[in-house]
Amino acid sequence: MNRSEFLRLTSAGTAGFATQGLLAGWLFQAGTSSASAQITGSTLKPYLQTPRPDSMWITWWSNNGSDSFVDWGTEVDALGNLVTGTRLELGTGYHYHSAKVSGLQPSTLYYYKVRTATETSDVYRFKTPPATGTSTGRFRVLVIGDNQIISSERRWEKLINRARVKIEEKYGKPLEEAVDFILNVGDQVDVGTLNHYRNLHFEYGKAVTPNLASMTTVGNHETYGGDNNLSLYKDLFHYHELSYQGIVSPGGDAYYAYQLANVLFIHLNSESMPNAAEGVGAVQKQWTQDVITAAAADPSVEFIISLCHRPYQAEQYVGDISSWLRTEIMPILAQTEKHVLNIGAHHHLYARGQTRDWPMYHIISGATAWDQYWG
Ligand SMILES: [Fe+2]
Ligand SMILES: [Fe+2]
Repeated sequence: MNRSEFLRLTSAGTAGFATQGLLAGWLFQAGTSSASAQITGSTLKPYLQTPRPDSMWITWWSNNGSDSFVDWGTEVDALGNLVTGTRLELGTGYHYHSAKVSGLQPSTLYYYKVRTATETSDVYRFKTPPATGTSTGRFRVLVIGDNQIISSERRWEKLINRARVKIEEKYGKPLEEAVDFILNVGDQVDVGTLNHYRNLHFEYGKAVTPNLASMTTVGNHETYGGDNNLSLYKDLFHYHELSYQGIVSPGGDAYYAYQLANVLFIHLNSESMPNAAEGVGAVQKQWTQDVITAAAADPSVEFIISLCHRPYQAEQYVGDISSWLRTEIMPILAQTEKHVLNIGAHHHLYARGQTRDWPMYHIISGATAWDQYWG
């Protein structure tokens, strides 16, 4: 598979990593929810993350829940398996629950609900990713960035709900059967506070996140508002356990790589960090090199997609890019033709094309919560 074949597949929408139709079309769809979206009265709204062919992390917030349980099974009315998770009391009224469901089969639909001692969620459904290395069928991802505005307009909620409507109309299937997972490209919040994570990122996405796993990327705004070392981010997301070919990220939750099907996803961190190993610099660069070297020799990886919040270049805010990505990381990514696409955000616009200096595609997908008058 080379880059030309990748482009044909993407344009045709018949296989491979199809994003273009999703990215181009959903903004002007009417409606805010679909028939399969489960909107009910329960206050517990699960959030799926770190999807693997054999496991899924499930997290949720409560005001004062003292236990963390997930009941799950392959039939909606037979949730006979129980996982006991953990709870972090991150602040008064901010209890964060996490549980990892293991022993799952790839490409399989599962039903589940989450519980605390006093509350029970509705029953939701998700689908596990294909077995690692799978190169047949289709693998589809919803890409969204810069969904960071918290306001009475609830823009992130409107957009993600309309994305669901568009996807289900377009593909004629429930969301979790039509798309494999969500890639968030950074600035999930405007400031890295409990209020913004719970009441923006998790709250506004609640009609989608119980069915479709999210994988976030560190943006500059996650480091604002007092969380410059991402301590809260590290509490909320369970990416540190991911590895690729035995290569573990020295940055833990701050940057990470994982293979799903025949695609390797590399989430880079374009920010400088108090702990230099977690941000831009030599340690992350060497890790990127190690990952690329392994992937180039790995026959089960046919495509590599990288994400970096600050983009390679943009036509607006020209100087506000990641020179580290452009000068130090792009030459590494380009060492193998398997690397086909880098996804950025940060600039609150949508753009796509091929880079001038490297034979790879580049998308800026950072317009989620913002007006775009021109550009
Ligand atoms: Fe942003
Ligand atoms: Fe940003």
